[in-house]
Amino acid sequence: MDLYKEIEKIIENLEDKNNELEVLEFIQKTEGYISKDMIKFVADKMDKFDFSIENTIKFYPHLKGEGKQIIEVKVCTHTACRNNGSGKILEEAKKILGVEVDGITPDRKYKLITQRCLGQCGKGPNVKIGSEIYNKMTPEILANLLKK
Ligand code: FES
Repeated sequence: MDLYKEIEKIIENLEDKNNELEVLEFIQKTEGYISKDMIKFVADKMDKFDFSIENTIKFYPHLKGEGKQIIEVKVCTHTACRNNGSGKILEEAKKILGVEVDGITPDRKYKLITQRCLGQCGKGPNVKIGSEIYNKMTPEILANLLKK
């Protein structure tokens, strides 16, 4: 499928030539997010400014732009956490998110990374999700936190 051709077709068939929502939803469904290139392409084809397309993406929570923040899931794999079972936590995180270390989930919501110490060694295994550190992590708690 030529994505650009499909998008052009959708734009041509729009009932409201000024409403890009349907186009953006199609891109989101196909690509998982809307890249800067796509924004440019849609803006060009619809004779709009890039920022106007970007504003539409920001307005609708189900649309994800390239720059929309990806939440980092940092599993501490340093000595103390490792001794407390962080290996099992990392495996569980891979399973839940369906990605390897440094991978980004297809919906671009999470990125899984490992960390050498989160500074709370006595309370491990520790996982930082976004800006929050969670101590004494278990596979069950992690599954709950990352529930989509
Ligand atoms: S070793 Fe994990 S927080 Fe320090």
